[in-house]
Amino acid sequence: MSLPTKMPQLSNTTWAIGGGKGGIGKSFISSSLAICLSKLGKQVTLVDLDLGSANLHTCLGIKVPQQTLSDFLKGRAKELTDVLVETEIPGLSFISGFNDSLDVTNITKAQVDRVISSLRSLPTPYVILDLGAGTGDHTLDFFLAADQKIIATTPEPTAIENAYRFMKASFYRKLKQTEVELGIQSLIEAAMDSRSQNGIRSPADLITHLKQTSPAIGEKLSDEFASFHAQILLNQIRTRQDIEIGHSMKSVSKKYFGIETHYLGYVDHDNAVWQSLRKKRPLLIEFPYSSIVGQFLGITKNLLNPHSLRAVV
Ligand SMILES: Nc1ncnc2c1ncn2[C@@H]1O[C@H](COP(=O)(O)OP(=O)(O)OP(=O)(O)O)[C@@H](O)[C@H]1O
Ligand SMILES: [Mg+2]
Repeated sequence: MSLPTKMPQLSNTTWAIGGGKGGIGKSFISSSLAICLSKLGKQVTLVDLDLGSANLHTCLGIKVPQQTLSDFLKGRAKELTDVLVETEIPGLSFISGFNDSLDVTNITKAQVDRVISSLRSLPTPYVILDLGAGTGDHTLDFFLAADQKIIATTPEPTAIENAYRFMKASFYRKLKQTEVELGIQSLIEAAMDSRSQNGIRSPADLITHLKQTSPAIGEKLSDEFASFHAQILLNQIRTRQDIEIGHSMKSVSKKYFGIETHYLGYVDHDNAVWQSLRKKRPLLIEFPYSSIVGQFLGITKNLLNPHSLRAVV
């Protein structure tokens, strides 16, 4: 008698690109990382999760596919794989975003959870999530579901400020996911309220407070901190001083938020980016000798070897 064949458990590695501020290059970064994986002979699915303003197809230089995430969310497509299309870039598949900005406000937590659990069953070993701007719950949930959490920013003060806000909001969102178990809801609410009088201003303050008042919960929270591991990616660098911003963001995150981050790398500002966008051709294909290509390849290799992440110099 032959034994039933055991179905292999499908699993993949997910990279999410968030960052709070709009227009800093999240979609450009997502598509470029996906193209780098393709150049390295890997298979990848690029997913546009900028619900309501999906435009990742433009970065890839393709038309909106016939079926998109809208069809999956509205039940017209049964599986997420039904809305996956292959592109002309070898090994690169694409899921186009939910384009109906009128309906986007009605997307429920259950629908978001369904997308998140379906991402794990996509057939490619790598999945890249392009997130929308802001710190909305859906965006944070997609970010937290990823194995590699990349926070993109430019050297502009407003973008940096939003990157910190995104970092802090996603960390609190992560805590809220465990709050029932930990029973610290009121403390998290107080910590998130900038007018709070109890002196808890940051995740670090929250842990210090809990370690004194409820050591077991404080320890558990410390573990949550340790597993957070966001990565900082600086885009649109123009000077040597700009590069240093990544290092200072790493120290500020540790000192003021108590959040451990890694400085993943930086990408130059280059007019070739909008030139290629205007031509509707991805930069990494249209300008293969641009310095940006080498920078993205370095970042991709870094992400492929998370246990030996190299420091940016
Ligand atoms: N390294 C770069 N050099 C020059 N221009 C860049 C670079 N990266 C992005 N840009 C420009 O920034 C603009 C915004 O890029 P992109 O759409 O990827 O940002 P985004 O963060 O995804 O925006 P949104 O929040 O609206 O989704 C584009 O017009 C692109 O030309
Ligand atoms: Mg975008």
